Amino acid sequence: LARGVTEPDLKGRHVVVSAGGTREPLDPVRFLGNRSSGKQGYALARTAAARGARVTLVSANTGLPEPAGVDVVPVGTAVQLREAILKAASDADVVVMAAAVADFRPATYAAGKIKKKDGEDPEPIVLVRNPDILAEISTDRARPGQVIVGFAAETDDVLANGRKKLERKGCDLLVVNEVGERKTFGSEENEAVVLGADGSETPVPHGPKEALAETVWDLVARRLG
Ligand code: CTP
Ligand code: CA
Repeated sequence: LARGVTEPDLKGRHVVVSAGGTREPLDPVRFLGNRSSGKQGYALARTAAARGARVTLVSANTGLPEPAGVDVVPVGTAVQLREAILKAASDADVVVMAAAVADFRPATYAAGKIKKKDGEDPEPIVLVRNPDILAEISTDRARPGQVIVGFAAETDDVLANGRKKLERKGCDLLVVNEVGERKTFGSEENEAVVLGADGSETPVPHGPKEALAETVWDLVARRLG
């Protein structure tokens, strides 16, 4: 495709994208969260809409402006994100899990603000596992031929860990980023390798998050047939 020319190759398709990072509340004023900005997920939603798709964007705590022509479903926690994804995925051709989903949540939620007590150490925070949404929707596909894409941020042995993760999750494509203190989080740019369940490896050079998004849709469109 020539630069700036958009082919509506996702026309008639329903694509679902999750973006941002979940927040797991401890009490009405505190939560456990992560540094995901949501920019990569929003870039995926915008570029899919430009390629003709109907887009549902499940957005967790991004504070980003709603992209035009995209159906935004706001969520807070991993459990809420799962509900929204399962609902939207039921008639979707593609699901892309770009959100950073908290692996754990506090075992209990205090209905009132947790207060300090004079001279006492704090209670430890007990965590429980959240559901693995990507593994769940990949194992139990809502529709035959549905294409499912995951994201993974790794700090070490990026490709080997990515390959293991792709197999564990059972998705079709896994976008693997190397992260570090100054890489990826909140930035406008990204660099990644897209691993395919068919053994393929597509490197995406350092560049705008839109460029990575376009490569993801190219690979998805090929699999939709
Ligand atoms: N993911 C998910 N549900 C979770 C955790 C992660 O759907 N409870 C999805 C993310 O949206 C992402 C992919 O799984 O697309 C990989 O997330 P990652 O945190 O890298 O994988 P984990 O299996 O949680 O492994 P790790 O122990 O490395 O965090
Ligand atoms: Ca994780």
